[in-house]
Amino acid sequence: MSFFASVEMAPGDPILGLTETFVADPSANKINLGVGIYVDEQGRVPMLASVREVEQALATAVRPRGYLPIDGLAAYNRLTRELLFGAESPLLAAGRVATAQTIGGSAALRVAADVLKQVAGAGAKIAISDPSWGNHHVIFRTAGFELLQYRYYDAASHGLDIAGMLEDLSRMEPGTVVLLHACCHNPTGVDPDAAQWQQIIDVLKERQLLPFVDMAYQGFDQGLDADATAIRLLAASGIEAFVVVNSYSKSFSLYGERVGALSMIGSNRDEAARLLSKIKQTIRTIYSSPSTHGAALVAGVLGSAELRDRWELELGGMRTRIHEMRAGLVERLAAHGAPDFGFIQSQAGMFSYSGLSKAQVHRLRDEFAIYALDSGRICVAALNRDNLDTVASAIAAVCR
Ligand SMILES: Cc1ncc(COP(=O)(O)O)c(C=O)c1O
Repeated sequence: MSFFASVEMAPGDPILGLTETFVADPSANKINLGVGIYVDEQGRVPMLASVREVEQALATAVRPRGYLPIDGLAAYNRLTRELLFGAESPLLAAGRVATAQTIGGSAALRVAADVLKQVAGAGAKIAISDPSWGNHHVIFRTAGFELLQYRYYDAASHGLDIAGMLEDLSRMEPGTVVLLHACCHNPTGVDPDAAQWQQIIDVLKERQLLPFVDMAYQGFDQGLDADATAIRLLAASGIEAFVVVNSYSKSFSLYGERVGALSMIGSNRDEAARLLSKIKQTIRTIYSSPSTHGAALVAGVLGSAELRDRWELELGGMRTRIHEMRAGLVERLAAHGAPDFGFIQSQAGMFSYSGLSKAQVHRLRDEFAIYALDSGRICVAALNRDNLDTVASAIAAVCR
């Protein structure tokens, strides 16, 4: 009998499973709106020129590859803190932010979950928006958290249920971790505005909840600083402790390089130093230290005034294209006589909860070879000038 005979098949990832079905579909004009990455007008993952410049410099100056420190490249961590909090942030001057380079935003979430579980102990609880990115639940459940939900998406208005959200948060026990998407909420595309963020933060402070901000799409909605509004307001709120995880997968188009970071904010320099020691202890037991290349690319761009300007332009280009595709889809849907989809333009980032039902999503796939998630989530970045009209006409057809 094999040692592994009793191993059961783990459920597949629904998003990756959809891509497999898409790849196997023989239709010539198939379109995949189920993806979770930014693709350009030609449907390709962009290679940013700012990144390429650093890449080429690294290739000509080939260096030995020793281990990075457990918490990664120091310059990368410093530049990350500056991007998240603003270079002039008093939190940085006070040494209150402990940052570690991680293997994408995913490992930042996992390391943070393990550290927080140690602090919170047996009764660790986390509140997650309904709905949220599926990995959030799995990561925190695996780390031993009890999962709670707060109301977030309002299906009737296709917007934010701010009243429900505030009411649910105000009922949470003190010490509960509250996971928030900084911008470009995945999967809905629905974000609080600045005034709503302030209301949310007031409740977090009053109820003594631990804010935990996940920022995977900085720069994809309004710009680098505007998209960090939640973090900036938290920093100014007087809340002493909070957590930020961030990812450069999308903003640098470096998905496979696995570039992310975990920042834990303590009430003073000494607390931050102790937090960093816990972060490093945790990383040591999972992957020991992060990899060199992706962090060198990001630090190379962010650390050069000229390359950073170029990167901001390129990021702005991705952002503008997303806005154009949102506007274009709304306009084409109206032209095809579909019901009002104007809310798509109020949503932010790569994703949109389209409001399409599971049955409509299946009709799109079966009759038009257009793939979306059963939840109705579409990736707006997968639209382009060539496929926009086809998609709009198919959506209008399944709405009739
Ligand atoms: C909300 C959210 N958080 C975190 C991540 C993880 O990013 P990474 O690919 O860098 O691990 C993603 C990626 O899709 C995401 O959507």
